[in-house]
Amino acid sequence: MTDGGSSIPEVHALLATLVASKPAGRFAETGTARWQCRSCQVLRAEVVHGHWLDVLPQRAPFDLLFADGGLRDTEGGFERSISLLAPGGFLVKDDMSPRRPIDGDEIREWLFREPRLIATEVLTTPSTAAIVAVRR
Ligand SMILES: C[S@@+](CC[C@H](N)C(=O)[O-])C[C@H]1O[C@@H](n2cnc3c(N)ncnc32)[C@H](O)[C@@H]1O
Repeated sequence: MTDGGSSIPEVHALLATLVASKPAGRFAETGTARWQCRSCQVLRAEVVHGHWLDVLPQRAPFDLLFADGGLRDTEGGFERSISLLAPGGFLVKDDMSPRRPIDGDEIREWLFREPRLIATEVLTTPSTAAIVAVRR
């Protein structure tokens, strides 16, 4: 997964923890910062250029999707991201402002109210958060 062009070590640790829970799992990251990232080389990852909606479906299902670029509901992005997940698969959305209300926040309204997901907010530092959702 990401080498952290912009994501922080706490997010790397969160991802590493979730990945470790899925031995032999398949993992995807949208918005990969550096195509020659260190962790890609370690994991012998496939690096794919393009809009995630175009390039990921044929590679799914994934046991973890780190949605770190281009996650919007335009083009059905929310529904299509769920369709990429294996049952029990994680969806991680980084770059959230912590402790914000669900109502009025498009990402939170979706992740916390979508019946096929169970979600929780994780403080990655005192001032940053990620949302981790798992597909039922
Ligand atoms: C927050 S940065 C990613 C940071 C990186 N994952 C890290 O941890 O350092 C977001 C990236 O998503 C890319 N992006 C935006 N929309 C996208 C899309 N629809 N498909 C794929 N990548 C997209 C942007 O070009 C940008 O490089």
